Amino acid sequence: MLVRAKKGEYAVAAFNILNHLTLSAVLKAAEQERSPVIIQTSVATVKALDPAALAAFARPMADAASVPVVLHLDHCQDVAMCGLCCDLGWDSVMFDSSHLPFEENIKATQEVRSYAQTKGVDVEGEVGIIAGTEDDISHEETSLAGYDDTMRYIKETEVEAIAPAVGTAHGLYSGVPEIQFDLVGRLAADSECPVVVHGGTGLEDAVFRKLIELGATKINISTALKLAYVNAMREYIEENTGTVNPLKLDGFVTEKVIAMVVPFLKLFGSSGQA
Ligand code: 13P
Repeated sequence: MLVRAKKGEYAVAAFNILNHLTLSAVLKAAEQERSPVIIQTSVATVKALDPAALAAFARPMADAASVPVVLHLDHCQDVAMCGLCCDLGWDSVMFDSSHLPFEENIKATQEVRSYAQTKGVDVEGEVGIIAGTEDDISHEETSLAGYDDTMRYIKETEVEAIAPAVGTAHGLYSGVPEIQFDLVGRLAADSECPVVVHGGTGLEDAVFRKLIELGATKINISTALKLAYVNAMREYIEENTGTVNPLKLDGFVTEKVIAMVVPFLKLFGSSGQA
């Protein structure tokens, strides 16, 4: 999916879903837009829903969609959890050992990838440290990825996608992020490995366009979905005091999540590519 995106000069959006409703809404949005999409699950979500129970509904829903869908495990620091998701039917896993010393990061990623390969599962790796909070994983400061280290990591681990820390961050931005556009461009030009940008929520449209122009092919969106989901619930409940209709509540929230997803698909150029 990402190799196609790179060739087609667009990016695939990867949304961190939280449950059946948000998964269903993201799939509906992708189908509406005829767009490929990546469904991501954080480790916290996987644990909260139970890995096997999540796979039991997410896998068939992804397969039944009329557009290409990849089921991906986001930021996983736990080798056993990566292995379990490989066994349970995820298409790809992000093994995040970026907090380890560089040589150990390479070695740990190699181990995860060699198991993933036996299951036909792709691996995304991280170099440098992406700041902010993504569910259970928090880093106060960015440690930017270096070009040489990242190229070496790609070569030695043979990961199918690379997430270099380029200055974006998880969660809401308090100021304007200083993004290393050069690094994104050089990595995308010099390596065939698709470049992933984390921390999509809150970036300006022009920034997304520039990142995609430079060759970024997967862009992660999590906080925007959480906000759309929770704000929609709050809005519905506040406007409908005195009535109890969970299905209407779900319908309202679903529409709000779809309305959040669609503009990203259009902006990233993946609309119409499926
Ligand atoms: P945001 O929460 O900033 O959108 O980041 C998402 C992300 O990168 C998930 O890995």
